[in-house]
Amino acid sequence: MRVGVLTGGGDCPGLNAVIRGIVRKGVQDYGYEFVGYRDGWRGPLEGDTTVLDIPAVRGILPRGGTILGTSRVNPAQIEGGLERIKRNLAHHMVDALICIGGEYTLGIAQRLSEEGVNIVGVPKTTDNDLNGTDFTFGFDTAVGVATEAIDRLHTTAESHHRVQVLEVMGRHAGWIAVHAGLAGGANVILIPEQKFDVEQVCRYVERRFAVNYSPIVVIADGALPVEGQLPEEDGTRDFFGRTGSYSIGEWLGKEIESRTGKETRTTVLGHTQRGGSPSAFDRYLATRFGINAVEAVHAGEWGTMVSMRAEEILRVPLAEATKEIKTVPLELYREVGVFFG
Ligand code: F6P
Repeated sequence: MRVGVLTGGGDCPGLNAVIRGIVRKGVQDYGYEFVGYRDGWRGPLEGDTTVLDIPAVRGILPRGGTILGTSRVNPAQIEGGLERIKRNLAHHMVDALICIGGEYTLGIAQRLSEEGVNIVGVPKTTDNDLNGTDFTFGFDTAVGVATEAIDRLHTTAESHHRVQVLEVMGRHAGWIAVHAGLAGGANVILIPEQKFDVEQVCRYVERRFAVNYSPIVVIADGALPVEGQLPEEDGTRDFFGRTGSYSIGEWLGKEIESRTGKETRTTVLGHTQRGGSPSAFDRYLATRFGINAVEAVHAGEWGTMVSMRAEEILRVPLAEATKEIKTVPLELYREVGVFFG
C-alpha cells in the first residue's frame, strides 16, 4: 500500500507528531510506503512530493510546524483542480491519502472522498472548532501560551494601574479565549459567538478598578461589537470579512482608554500561539491520531476522520466533522461570565 500524506491550513504544534505516528505505525506494522505532499493541497495539485520514510521522521516529535509545509491553496477554486489531484495521485500510484487539517482542508477531503478517492482525515486546529472530536491537537499548546501571557500581564497591569487587553486567536470560535481567560483569571472574555457592547466592557473595567484591581480583557480575534460600534468602512476587508484594517484587540484597547480615561495597553499574541514545541497533551493526542489514521487506512474506512471522545480514539464520518464548526455553547459562556467585572 502506498499512502500520501499532507498537512493543510494554518500550521499548529503537533503536526510533526502526527506525521511521525503515521509513518512509524505504517512502516513497522503494515510495511506501507509513504509519499509526502508539500504545502497542503498545493502538493497533490502540482505533483510536488517529498520522501517520507523512517529517517525523515526521526527527531521531529517535539518540533513545531510541519516538515511537509502547509498552505491554504484551495483546489476547489481552481479550474479542474480536483481532477488534477486525482490524476496526480494515480500517477504517483497512491492508494490512499491521509489529510491532516482543519475545517477547510477536510472539506476538500470530503469532496474528494465523495468522488471516490480513498481518504482518511486527521483533525487539526489550534482553534478547537472541529465537530466530531472533543479536542484537536495544537489547542492545548495555544491555551498554554495564552495563559502564560495573561499571568504576565497581571503583574505589569497591577504595577502600572493599567488595563491590559490581550487578543488571542480562534477565528470564528472563542475556545482559546474561554479556556485561557478562565485559566488566567481574566476579568472580561469576549468571543465571536456573542457580540459585545463596548460600553458594558468599560463598566466591567471601571468596576474592577473600583475594587483596586487592574483588569485584564481577553478578546478573540474574531469577536465583534454590537451593530454601530465598529469603525467606518474604509474599503478594506480583513481575514474575517470585517471592513476596516485593524486588530479588534487594538481597536478595543483604544476605545476603553478614550471612554474610561484609564491607561490601556494591548498585546496581540498572534502566531506565538501556533509556533514552537507542542505541549505533552498535544504530542500524546497527535501521536494517537497518527497511529489510528493508519488503522483506518488498513481497515479501508474511507471518508472518515479520527476523533477523540473522552479517552477513546474513534472514527467519525468526514461529512459530520465538516458540516459546521464547533462553537462555544452560550451556556458555557454564561457560566464563565460570573467572573466578569
Ligand atoms: O485557524 C487558525 C488561525 O490561527 C486562527 O485562529 C486565526 O484567526 C487565523 O488562523 C490566522 O491566520 P493566518 O495564519 O493566515 O494569519
